Amino acid sequence: MPKLLFFSGSTRQDSLNQKLLNLAVTIAQDLGAEVTPINLKDFSMPIFNGDDEVAYGLPENAKKLKVIFAKHDGLFIASPEHNRSIPALLKNTLDWISRTEAKDEKPLAAFKDKVVALGSVSPGMLGGLHGLIQLRMMLTYIGVNVIPAQTTIISGLQAFDSNGMLKNARQLETLKRTVTDLVITTSKLAC
Ligand SMILES: Cc1cc2nc3c(=O)[nH]c(=O)nc-3n(C[C@H](O)[C@H](O)[C@H](O)COP(=O)(O)O)c2cc1C
Repeated sequence: MPKLLFFSGSTRQDSLNQKLLNLAVTIAQDLGAEVTPINLKDFSMPIFNGDDEVAYGLPENAKKLKVIFAKHDGLFIASPEHNRSIPALLKNTLDWISRTEAKDEKPLAAFKDKVVALGSVSPGMLGGLHGLIQLRMMLTYIGVNVIPAQTTIISGLQAFDSNGMLKNARQLETLKRTVTDLVITTSKLAC
């Protein structure tokens, strides 16, 4: 069974995307996957600055996250869209860990052979779709296998019950399909 890393592009306390992530974790575990959920608030980093990188190298949290990425076969990212695009927290995190440290380190090592599934929740009527299009494009560019299935949840403020379950059966089915495809694809590519 594949090892999967799950995280959200929002560190907000009542984050809707964190709710989606929590549900996705349970679904993946029920399928038998080995899941590591992390919260990016435990890996805070300064905004990328090339001069700081030359002077000080990568932030400690970027180094830690690169090691964690390397230990996993696939990722699930649940992220809000900000102004129809990738939120700064997520973009900054991915930018830092895309950088090499040692001279013999291959470029984009943290992303090598990774399979990724995407999800997004928005209070609006498009469910963060535009943000995921940009995130998908960016991840594909850095060599990640982003699976076709994805989950976008509209009207996010009303979407979850008090137990964190999606109220709408079709939305839940879409999330299950997305997570199942992630587990299957990752298992196949990890062979
Ligand atoms: C800077 C900023 C830009 C946003 N832009 C969008 C947007 O383009 N589309 C959208 O549906 N919601 C947008 N929102 C609203 C977020 O979808 C909403 O705050 C959502 O709850 C954030 O995700 P979270 O609950 O996981 O923190 C934006 C919010 C912020 C703070």
